[in-house]
Amino acid sequence: MTETVVTTNNLMELILIAAVAANGVIGCDNAIPWHIPGEQARFKETTWGHCLLMGRKTWDSIGRALPGRHSIVVTRNMNFKAEGGEVVYSLPEGIAIAQSRQAAKLFIIGGEQIFRLALAQADTLLLSRLDQAVPGDVFFPSFTSPPFQLTKTEKISGPVPYRIETWQRLDKFDVAAAS
Ligand SMILES: NC(=O)c1ccc[n+]([C@@H]2O[C@H](COP(=O)([O-])OP(=O)(O)OC[C@H]3O[C@@H](n4cnc5c(N)ncnc54)[C@H](OP(=O)(O)O)[C@@H]3O)[C@@H](O)[C@H]2O)c1
Repeated sequence: MTETVVTTNNLMELILIAAVAANGVIGCDNAIPWHIPGEQARFKETTWGHCLLMGRKTWDSIGRALPGRHSIVVTRNMNFKAEGGEVVYSLPEGIAIAQSRQAAKLFIIGGEQIFRLALAQADTLLLSRLDQAVPGDVFFPSFTSPPFQLTKTEKISGPVPYRIETWQRLDKFDVAAAS
């Protein structure tokens, strides 16, 4: 099935946010196979007050609507109910809902299937990168530079050190000014 592509308007930034192991793994057995102290708090702070769009499996793995954010869940199941969230049946429908709410940012929070669907339209990739490889069964999709350019790297120390990479789409941002 081909997905209808809608372009996001210039007012809404479409951001893919993920934690990614060194081998590209983002999950295993429908869970995230690591715990990084403080990383969830950063995710909460970054996404607070914004719209989140996720696949049905990620919704199931979280198990509830995340507070302080509007959850949009993508499924092909017309009978699916997401208590505290909004159900849509395609990525364009989810983007349109965020736009209709005048959202400044739409965070695509996973998992692999939804990252793959949304990558072509992403303005920004916000990746928490682990140093170590981790066994798993779902991966962040590969992407190239261009069109994305690494504009910021923040090293986070702690029991599990990691770095936060910001990749921005060259034709959307004045990347030279940002770096
Ligand atoms: N490390 C991270 O940052 C991170 C973030 C999020 C998730 N994860 C992990 O990622 C894994 C889940 O990822 P996943 O790829 O298996 O699943 P997913 O992307 O979360 O959800 C897949 C589901 O989305 C729906 N879907 C997919 N394409 C669709 C389309 N074109 N139109 C309508 N609905 C569509 C389908 O739902 P139905 O089957 O209901 O039709 C499909 O089963 C878990 O292990 C989770 O822990 C990791």
